[in-house]
Amino acid sequence: MSFVSVSNVWKKYNNRSIIERVNVDILEGEFISIVGASGCGKSTFLRMLLAEETPSRGEIRIDGGAPAKEPNQERGVVFQKYSVFPHLSVRENLIAGEGFVTPFGKLFGAKRRVAVARADEMLERIGLNHVADQFPAALSGGMQQRLAIGQAMSARPRILLLDEPFGALDPGTRIQMHDFLMELRDETNMTVFMVTHDLQEGFKLGDRVLVFDKPRWDPHDPGMYGATITYDFDARDGGIPFQLKEETDVSE
Ligand SMILES: Nc1ncnc2c1ncn2[C@@H]1O[C@H](COP(=O)(O)OP(=O)(O)O)[C@@H](O)[C@H]1O
Ligand SMILES: [Mg+2]
Repeated sequence: MSFVSVSNVWKKYNNRSIIERVNVDILEGEFISIVGASGCGKSTFLRMLLAEETPSRGEIRIDGGAPAKEPNQERGVVFQKYSVFPHLSVRENLIAGEGFVTPFGKLFGAKRRVAVARADEMLERIGLNHVADQFPAALSGGMQQRLAIGQAMSARPRILLLDEPFGALDPGTRIQMHDFLMELRDETNMTVFMVTHDLQEGFKLGDRVLVFDKPRWDPHDPGMYGATITYDFDARDGGIPFQLKEETDVSE
C-alpha cells in the first residue's frame, strides 16, 4: 500500500509549466533520491511534498489522507544552508524544532523540562552534546547540517525532505553525513526524499533514484513544457546502473 501517492501533478508559475504529469507511489520507509538538471523543478516538487506549494493540477496524498493545505509536523525539511535559527543555541534550536511556541518564545516549568530532556536525547543522537550551548555560527558546516537534520527530526516527522543537504560540505564530511543519515533512518523508518546533484550519492543512499527531465521540448520556446519523472531506478543494491557509470553528474 503506497504511503505517499502523487497523482498527475502539474505545477505552473506565470502560466509556464515547471512540472507536468508526475505520477509516483512511495512506500513508507523508502529513501527516494531525486536528480535532474538545475532549474527543472526538483525543489518545487519538494515544496509540494512539504505542502508549502499546492499543485496546479493533480494531488499528493500521504497515508491516504486529504491533500495538505499547509506544512505540518508530519513533514520535516532541511535545505543546503540556513535552516537553523542563528540567534538560538544548539539546544534551543532542537527545542524550537519540536514545534513548541509560546507568546514569550520560551517554555517554562514541566513542559520546558520535557522539551529539554528530549532535546538532550537528540543532541546525543546527533553527536552535538558537547556544543549544546553554542550558537550555530560557531559550528562547522557538517555540524550545522547535523543540527538542521536533528531539528527537523525533533518534531518526529513521518517524511523528511532534504534539498541538496550536503552540497556545501567537503567530501570527507559528506561521507560522515551519509553514515549519520543512514543510522538515523534505520532507527526511525522515516520516508526520505533527498534532492542531490551527486548521482553517486543518490544511488548510495537511495532505495530508488528518480530522474526529473523534460520529455517534451519546443526549441522555439524552451520554457513551454515542464519536467516529469523520466526514470525510476531501483538502487537497493547501492550500485550505479551500467549505462550511467561514465557520468557522475546529470545536472549540467
Ligand atoms: N515561486 C516561484 N515563482 C515563479 N517561478 C518559480 C518559483 N519557484 C520556482 N520557479 C521557477 O521554477 C523553475 C524550477 O525551479 P526549482 O524547482 O528551484 O528547480 P531545481 O530545484 O530543479 O533547480 C525555475 O525556472 C524557477 O525559476
Ligand atoms: Mg533546487
